Amino acid sequence: MSAARYTKSRKLIMTDRYAVIGNPVAHSQSPMIHAEFARATGEAIRYEKLFAELGRFREVVEGFIAEGGRGLNVTLPFKGEAYRMSDEVTERARAAEAVNTLTFRDGKVYGDNTDGIGLVRDIVQAMDVQLAGKNVLVLGAGGAVRGVLEPLLEEKPASLTIANRTLIKAEALVHHFAPWGVCQATGYGELAGRAFDVIINATSTSLHNELPPIPAGLFNARSLAYDMVYSKGLTPFLRRAQSENAGMLADGLGMLVEQAAESFFIWRGKRPDTRKVTHMLRELLA
Ligand code: ATR
Repeated sequence: MSAARYTKSRKLIMTDRYAVIGNPVAHSQSPMIHAEFARATGEAIRYEKLFAELGRFREVVEGFIAEGGRGLNVTLPFKGEAYRMSDEVTERARAAEAVNTLTFRDGKVYGDNTDGIGLVRDIVQAMDVQLAGKNVLVLGAGGAVRGVLEPLLEEKPASLTIANRTLIKAEALVHHFAPWGVCQATGYGELAGRAFDVIINATSTSLHNELPPIPAGLFNARSLAYDMVYSKGLTPFLRRAQSENAGMLADGLGMLVEQAAESFFIWRGKRPDTRKVTHMLRELLA
């Protein structure tokens, strides 16, 4: 059963329900982003925040489905559970073994992962920086990296290097993603003296106002420095890139909006204009 409301003319409008589920979830910008997308595309949807206690993810999702919910965005720490509860998943979700977009249709649960395509679209379309033929460095080897590697590989970079403090985790990712493409694993120390076109910080360091242990001189005038975390000012990673005169700096706000736009497309079949919403969020952050 969809949420029903009457217009002034007493015409019944059925509003499809969506939500973002997480723990915590209060900080999520997704309801605002999707409300903007819905307004801009004329889609009648309702989009809420759904909190789930740890260990109660499946129960909360099943409750939402029983109430007529049509889809969910899944955020930390439930992307793995969402993957496991999906009846069918896309290739990119299978590669990531993580799902951030659930669709409920005909009694089935469909899982997809739009994080990586969100990152790629932000870089390739919004920033107009090609990844094909480029040397790409990704810092980190946690869930954030796992979620984006397959779409990055799809772009056919000349090389894709994964640097991590715990080398074995980077090596495990290289092994896991071998069916989708070739990556190299490295520690931070071995990055000294090397050059990359695109350097993506996917560690959690920015959340703690820290810098990953990158060697000095990693950036140059041709490099794009991209932090998957977004914040009001520059993150420590972006400050370092700026101090080394990196050609372009970007934080993860564009990725947040692009991944949401891909979810919206999966659910509603319409591609909203992302630039306006990114701009609006940027103003709110300021
Ligand atoms: P997520 O799922 O958000 O990626 P995670 O799985 O905890 O979170 O991974 C965090 C990533 O940030 C890891 O790659 C972690 O490195 P380790 O695997 O060596 O732990 C990285 N990270 C966190 N703090 C770091 C720090 N101070 N310096 C370098 N890397 C750090």
